[in-house]
Amino acid sequence: MWRIKSLDAILATAEKKSLHRSLGPIQLTMLGIGAVIGTGIFVLTATAAQKAGPGMMVSFIIAGSVCAVAALCYSELASMVPVAGSAYTYSYAVMGELVAWLVGWALILEYALGASAVAVGWSGHILGLFEDYGIHLLPHALTVGPKMSFGSFLEGGEVGGIVNLPAVLITAAVTWLLIVGTKESATVNSVLVAIKVLALTLFIVLTIPLIAGHLGNFKPFTPRGWGNPLGSSGTGVLGAAASIFFAYVGFDAVSTAAEETRNPQRNVPIGLIASLLICTLFYLLAAGGAVGAYGAQPLFDAAGVAYDPGSPEFSAACTALGAHTPLVCSKHALAYVLHEIGHPFFGSVVALAATIALPSVVLLMMYGQTRIFFVMARDGLLPSVLSTVHPKFKTPWIITLVTGVVVAVFAAFLPVGQLADYSNSGTLFAFAAVSVGVMVLRFTDPNRVRPFRTPFLFVIAPASIVGCVVLFLSLDSKSKGLFFAWTVLGLIFYFCYGFWKSNVRHGVELDAPLTEGPGGIPD
Ligand code: ALA
Repeated sequence: MWRIKSLDAILATAEKKSLHRSLGPIQLTMLGIGAVIGTGIFVLTATAAQKAGPGMMVSFIIAGSVCAVAALCYSELASMVPVAGSAYTYSYAVMGELVAWLVGWALILEYALGASAVAVGWSGHILGLFEDYGIHLLPHALTVGPKMSFGSFLEGGEVGGIVNLPAVLITAAVTWLLIVGTKESATVNSVLVAIKVLALTLFIVLTIPLIAGHLGNFKPFTPRGWGNPLGSSGTGVLGAAASIFFAYVGFDAVSTAAEETRNPQRNVPIGLIASLLICTLFYLLAAGGAVGAYGAQPLFDAAGVAYDPGSPEFSAACTALGAHTPLVCSKHALAYVLHEIGHPFFGSVVALAATIALPSVVLLMMYGQTRIFFVMARDGLLPSVLSTVHPKFKTPWIITLVTGVVVAVFAAFLPVGQLADYSNSGTLFAFAAVSVGVMVLRFTDPNRVRPFRTPFLFVIAPASIVGCVVLFLSLDSKSKGLFFAWTVLGLIFYFCYGFWKSNVRHGVELDAPLTEGPGGIPD
């Protein structure tokens, strides 16, 4: 289980591809912003406010900083091993099969449940677009999952809910697009980036000037404290940072494009840091604007205990408040704020922008998931039938369908904040593993060409590991519990299947030469 896949074997496959190096720093930054801005800022601002109140502004800075150091580590491996499968592949080459399997397994949480979270965020926007004018597109029962709780892992839904139908429908549509081989073009990405950035700018311009007149909204600044990573509640500024981390996920799009980048040593870090800085700035201003213009205090019960965001009790308390609820209750936070402060038209513009742009984030995340499944199946760690390619569309349709069903089931029944937290647990584990791997490789393979070298690696990588661990521990106990249960399941699966079937075990080192990359297939 400690066997590694040799870097040379991995690169032998990759070299056949030899992509044209065309991307410069501006395109990379656009790519990063396109993949990053999504449900996190447009929706999870409400969840973060319930966890931290106005202190969520600090949460955005903490989460962005952890992402920045992790991103720098990620890029060294991404530029050295520029192949599909991201953190899974890097770990296979550096730390062996078992670690790689666990990372790949954790990435399922990141990508699949992340896609579910964005799909639920989309649902909140398309419904909210009409609800702000008193129009209910669907009966309540078809807009949220049922009230449920399974042990301490899953909890959510609302009394009277059955299924989040819009989230299921958007997942089905994206699955279909992926099966017929849709990839997002650079032009579409640029248009969507512009839409998202303009929507956030509009929000900021309309709300920031109101701050001066409402400084009281910032008090108390940290109504639920700073948080305790050793506790179980996942609240306070650190708890909100652990959730809002989701708003930054996706920057690996820049790392994985290292191979197509001119002068990657210079341009990859510029692209990463620039996109993270720009996003952090927008997020901070948007969060500050929301607090200043409307207020972002958590909702407390009669006994003075704050509700758990996403819990059935929280939803019931929000429903009881009627039409004009606090920010924390909204499922389309930014658009809602504009609507409530006297700009209903611009609120609808922001909701429409999110409705148009969020499906592409679902697509990117589901695409990432299919690539990882595909590479794991090709390595023999998952059944090879999964990597079957469709005869007409030339896409890995079985994997895509399986991914679509998983994403749809979770999106159908769980609240967005919980999904994002589950997703973050997997992402933080993968980032920490990559940060360890990049240091290990400096010792085990010091002479290999590194198109991008992480500056001050032995400061940056430990900082990234500590940041990921602290954020992981700051998640609520449900997310930590789910992560451990998921990992145990993964270990059982590995020792029953992958350990025996692994191609590396059977001496098959070179991957099948899938050099064309038709319809979304890596290599
Ligand atoms: N960062 C992405 C989002 O917030 C995943 O939707």
